[in-house]
Amino acid sequence: MKALILVGGLGTRLRPLTLSVPKPLVEFANKPMILHQIEALKAIGVTEVILAINYQPELMLNLKEFEKKLEIKITFSQETEPLGTAGPLALARDKLIDDSGEPFFVLNSDVISEYPLKQMVDFHKAHGGEASIMVTKVDEPSKYGVVVMEESTGKVERFVEKPKTFVGNKINAGIYLLNPSVIDRIELRPTSIEKEVFPKIAADNKLYAIVLPGFWMDIGQPRDYIAGLRLYLDSLRKKSSTKLATGPHIVGKCFGG
Ligand code: GTP
Repeated sequence: MKALILVGGLGTRLRPLTLSVPKPLVEFANKPMILHQIEALKAIGVTEVILAINYQPELMLNLKEFEKKLEIKITFSQETEPLGTAGPLALARDKLIDDSGEPFFVLNSDVISEYPLKQMVDFHKAHGGEASIMVTKVDEPSKYGVVVMEESTGKVERFVEKPKTFVGNKINAGIYLLNPSVIDRIELRPTSIEKEVFPKIAADNKLYAIVLPGFWMDIGQPRDYIAGLRLYLDSLRKKSSTKLATGPHIVGKCFGG
């Protein structure tokens, strides 16, 4: 399987951290935030990660050095103008589509979670639609684009941007699994997957959403970055205490890898 990570944004809202490095390279819990994603993709058998680069490409190209260490192929698709969140898929068409016909992952580079990607693959296979998106529950849906879905099947009915009255509390978590046919729906121009592509797939009854289990945070703003760090560390601590309670006793080891 392959994955494309959108890493071309300007990251203005995470300033001052993004004044010296592009957002995907900002350290989160001791490593560039994008490495958390690449490691999670590798763990479920993804063999190639395509980085859709645009802003500060010369710095992003340095990520090639992690190819050997993480044992995963890392390639680049470079834009000459910002293509938004969907245009980069059309640009990387030849890299994403191969004879396998398998679906591929698309990730925003600034979301932190436990990345339940295997569950997403199983969900995608079971519903038989064209695209799957992860959604997450939030307390204040009025700030976001809300995904309205059929609870029993996950079929997405519509998207409501910043709703004034309550229509649901699930928002797009920035993690997608798409059939290759989705690329045929995208023109090679600056375009938004949330606003222009997903509503059309939903209108064809081929878009399904899965509620992300565990924590989630878009860490693209300082306040959310700090909140995300706390959630990440809590999750790490819970995992390691479960390991210590159930696994072989290792003296002096607090955090499992
Ligand atoms: P802000 O400037 O703070 O809004 O951040 P951003 O530019 O990263 O925007 P946003 O957080 O909305 O982007 C969501 C995801 O899409 C991030 O992973 C961005 O790197 C990515 N992204 C946004 N615009 C582009 C683009 O034009 N090209 C590519 N390749 N990725 C993009």
